[in-house]
Amino acid sequence: MAELVSRRRTSFQKISQLAPRAYIADPVAKQVNAANEIRAKKIESSRENFRRITAASISTWGVLDRPMTYNILITGGAGFIGSHLADQLLHDGHRVRILDRLIPQVHGPESKRPDYLSKAVELIIGDIRDAGIVEQAIKGIDVIYHFGAAVGVGQSMYQICHYSEVNAIGTATLMEALARQPVERLVVASSMSIYGEGLYRNSIGETVENASRSIAQLKSHRWEPVGPDEESLTPIPTPEHKIPAVPSVYALSKYYQERLCLNVAPAYGICTVALRFFNVFGPRQALSNPYTGVLAIFAARLLNGRPPIIHEDGRQSRDFVYIKDVVQACILALKTPEIGGQVLNVGSGRHLSILEVATILTKFLDKRIAPEISGKYRVGDIRNCFADISLAREVLGYNPSYTLESGIAEMAEWLSTQHAEDRLPAATRELARRGLAA
Ligand SMILES: NC(=O)c1ccc[n+]([C@@H]2O[C@H](COP(=O)([O-])OP(=O)(O)OC[C@H]3O[C@@H](n4cnc5c(N)ncnc54)[C@H](O)[C@@H]3O)[C@@H](O)[C@H]2O)c1
Repeated sequence: MAELVSRRRTSFQKISQLAPRAYIADPVAKQVNAANEIRAKKIESSRENFRRITAASISTWGVLDRPMTYNILITGGAGFIGSHLADQLLHDGHRVRILDRLIPQVHGPESKRPDYLSKAVELIIGDIRDAGIVEQAIKGIDVIYHFGAAVGVGQSMYQICHYSEVNAIGTATLMEALARQPVERLVVASSMSIYGEGLYRNSIGETVENASRSIAQLKSHRWEPVGPDEESLTPIPTPEHKIPAVPSVYALSKYYQERLCLNVAPAYGICTVALRFFNVFGPRQALSNPYTGVLAIFAARLLNGRPPIIHEDGRQSRDFVYIKDVVQACILALKTPEIGGQVLNVGSGRHLSILEVATILTKFLDKRIAPEISGKYRVGDIRNCFADISLAREVLGYNPSYTLESGIAEMAEWLSTQHAEDRLPAATRELARRGLAA
């Protein structure tokens, strides 16, 4: 932590030196000079605040061991993951502000404050791309969780400008605001989608980073990626050092978001961490959003008495991580010292086929409906990706405790109270019309 403080100090000093102190006769230059002075003062006061907080809370072994009260901003915090995190942060004694546009795809046509959002949360309704609102939202804030994003692989392949604007320009807007008003810590929600296909091993034990499937291959229903000589490959856990493949606009924009935070924020002395979430599931996930959250999409089908529709042959595998384990990782990312610059997988460390997931969910919801295996595919979908979580275990002490079954068991009660509109057929037609599914 001492090293962290000293690094922050050095970068703050560098920034402070940018402010010219000499008298400048030119009136425009004078204004610039004054603005720089104000900025340097703000940085100095933020540095002072950080020294005060760390001095009060670091134990002899460098861990933040006493509960400290932070002012925390969660962008996109009215959504699924952010709202659960907000509950935990409030429970731990922090103050929570949320900046969220309450988009209809997630929050319904009325875009109203969700009932599940704690009354103790200060909600600013606004867009992450609006510089004025972002400036207002970060005032007095110590820590930011940047979760605000357009979320959905298939949809991103035709709403290309929208996904690029919200995820890339939205994050750039936040970075510009942070350059003027730095905070102490920034945690950005990244995604497993950036990997594309996960890591594989070939028949002679070598790892294969760039497995992929051509459209011609998908058309002939050969679902598993193969090696250069058509050799079969075995999926293995994907670690953070796997080279990203960014197969969709969503993945590309999430990677941009992650890199922008990790490249820019530390230049302003902000300890920055990226958490790459895998398939998160749990209560409050938008059931009527057909573009994201496979388990929620299956649940919406089942609640409407319809079979879950499974693409390809159902043997594609994913890592499903329960929301409480994700919140655990987010809280550890706040408390753990000296983690600036880290990129960490947040998954369960287990993997299941999509067919198994549909079967388990159907059983828990007590429905007698067999899943429908469509044999169809969507452009941009990957076959296998599941997390190697050893780095998060080592760096954060992250220890996920839910299985898919125990997570679904916990969320089943919530599911039974939900009304879900099944928008999957319309979304599938939209993708097919554009040649993005067949
Ligand atoms: N849920 C998952 O499985 C998963 C997996 C990997 C990564 N992630 C990432 O985690 C973060 C949170 O995901 P989630 O599942 O809670 O999604 P969500 O859709 O439930 O929440 C996202 C929130 O962002 C808000 N938002 C969208 N556009 C906005 C804008 N222009 N300005 C301000 N707010 C805006 C929405 O209203 C919504 O409340 C996202 O960044 C997502 O990419 C999620």
